[in-house]
Amino acid sequence: MGYEKTKQAFNETLEKLGTDYLDLYLIHMPFGDYYGSWRALEEFYAQGKVRAIGVSNFLPDRLMDLCYSAKVKPQLNQIELHPFYQREDELEIMKELDVQPQAWAPFAEGFNGMFTNPTLVEIAKEQNCSVAQVILSWNLQRNVAVIPKSVHRERMLDNFGALKVHLTDEQVKKIALLDLKRPQMVDTLKPSEVKRLYDYVNNPVLTSL
Ligand SMILES: NC(=O)c1ccc[n+]([C@@H]2O[C@H](COP(=O)([O-])OP(=O)(O)OC[C@H]3O[C@@H](n4cnc5c(N)ncnc54)[C@H](OP(=O)(O)O)[C@@H]3O)[C@@H](O)[C@H]2O)c1
Repeated sequence: MGYEKTKQAFNETLEKLGTDYLDLYLIHMPFGDYYGSWRALEEFYAQGKVRAIGVSNFLPDRLMDLCYSAKVKPQLNQIELHPFYQREDELEIMKELDVQPQAWAPFAEGFNGMFTNPTLVEIAKEQNCSVAQVILSWNLQRNVAVIPKSVHRERMLDNFGALKVHLTDEQVKKIALLDLKRPQMVDTLKPSEVKRLYDYVNNPVLTSL
């Protein structure tokens, strides 16, 4: 975090990727001198070195503050969003701010039996599609961009197939009931989690994320 460190990190990234611009560049967490980092991102954007700039894991208060104080507003906020953590109220605020929501870990990494959840399995049968496609199409239908990860080609293709699925209002209402209303992966409001993230930054070899 910080203006100078971000400039250095950005240039290193361009060099490693062998490119002279990026499509999207995000601030990972709202900790440390992220306003300094944002000023650097605004410069990259003005110089045409990045096509879109955004943030990740920003709760509504921090997002609102950045939107009001920045020269260039964040175009995207990448946060934990899946059927077990739906965050409808936060999506409303992002809509008001014109910030595109993007779901990281849209399958909650498969935790809590996401792929075998009876409601999702039933909807998949009704739609004649996979559970993964139900989960992704549900987020896409509420205007949330998704970045599922798979190391298997057939699953990547399966995930693209979500673009062809359209859930009914009845199915969307059933999925609404799965909301546990709390993070399943990272809770940035917990001081212990903040400490763990700093421990990781300071010593990534000894700390897991
Ligand atoms: N901004 C942040 O703070 C943050 C935090 C966490 C993650 N992320 C990003 O979010 C993206 C995805 O996150 P993630 O990998 O943690 O979680 P995820 O996409 O929710 O889940 C990945 C898991 O789902 C499995 N999977 C994928 N497609 C499947 C399918 N069609 N059917 C069955 N299983 C399937 C994968 O297995 P296989 O690979 O074995 O197929 C893998 O075990 C990554 O780009 C990650 O960097 C960002």
